[in-house]
Amino acid sequence: MQYATITGWGKCVPPATLTNQDLSTFIETSDEWIKSRTGISQRHISHVNTSELASLAAKRALAAAGIDGSELDMIILATASPDTLIPNIASTVQANIGATCAAFDINAACSGFLYGLGLASSQIKSGQSRKVLVIGAERLSFYLDWSRRETAVLFGDGAGAVVVEASEIQGGVLGYELSNDPEGRDILKANFGSAMDRFSADSLDFFIQFEGQEIFKRAINGMNKLSVKVLDKCGIDKDAVDLVIPHQANERIIDTLVSKMKIPKEKAFVNIANYGNTSAATIPIAICDALEKGLIKPGQTILSCAFGAGLTSAALLFKW
Ligand code: ACO
Repeated sequence: MQYATITGWGKCVPPATLTNQDLSTFIETSDEWIKSRTGISQRHISHVNTSELASLAAKRALAAAGIDGSELDMIILATASPDTLIPNIASTVQANIGATCAAFDINAACSGFLYGLGLASSQIKSGQSRKVLVIGAERLSFYLDWSRRETAVLFGDGAGAVVVEASEIQGGVLGYELSNDPEGRDILKANFGSAMDRFSADSLDFFIQFEGQEIFKRAINGMNKLSVKVLDKCGIDKDAVDLVIPHQANERIIDTLVSKMKIPKEKAFVNIANYGNTSAATIPIAICDALEKGLIKPGQTILSCAFGAGLTSAALLFKW
């Protein structure tokens, strides 16, 4: 029996920050409004493309795992803001890290990293791959209308990556659940990168737009439903979960989710204050930060869950 274990991790967050205070100098908003509604204090803004952020995170994850890019069997890159659609940017990362394996992008929006990690674990458990690199990377600042306060305050740029390897030691990814609700596909969208751009009568369609309160409710319901499902499937009681690493879209969403699941608030890892919502990158960045803070320890059971455009949902359980 092969287990799929995370053996390396790394993040790349651009150095330039944009604080709430900075934002309030050019749009009608305030630090108080943003912090109290979302938990965000600042976000990082990149001057380089998503693939560059992804490549740096990937190099750090490979170094942490102690392996070379040429040893990889597969690269899965989750992003909703690739610098090019053709070719995929997993191939750009691949060239930058000297890998020669299968490489592809996936777009499951904010759930993309967990979709990728789930698929990577299945590849490994089936014996098809032994070493898979999973990356979540975004440069959403490029696709925001900076004059619209409803969206401009929420997002940030960054990348995170993990190496998943086949192991004889019991643990690693225990199980995962993925879903998509197409009925909600119009409440969170952006037309950038689509064939419709050039014909769009309304240029606002180009940028990210959403129905915030509707997403708020559906995010909680989606993550709760799949988290309960994956716990059931793995035969693990919610009280046995040591740490929850949720997608970081809004601190109030995280608070409501854990309260609905009857999991103590202290078990939820929250770092949204520093980064805002970096979509597919929030969870791998959070894994790196939780490790740096010493919050992830050997033997712990960790639940991760996400929600995003599509409307996608994902929940994944892993043992450290
Ligand atoms: N600064 C100041 N005021 C603002 C801002 C802002 N940045 N944005 C909106 N407002 C105003 C609104 O215009 C409204 O004013 P009005 O009452 O005069 O009409 C008022 O604040 C309240 O707006 P609401 O939309 O009701 O605020 P709400 O409490 O719902 O918070 C928010 C909005 C933060 C977007 C919340 O709904 C949310 O987080 N939703 C889900 C997150 C999300 O949509 N993420 C997108 C990515 S999807 C994902 O990652 C899962």
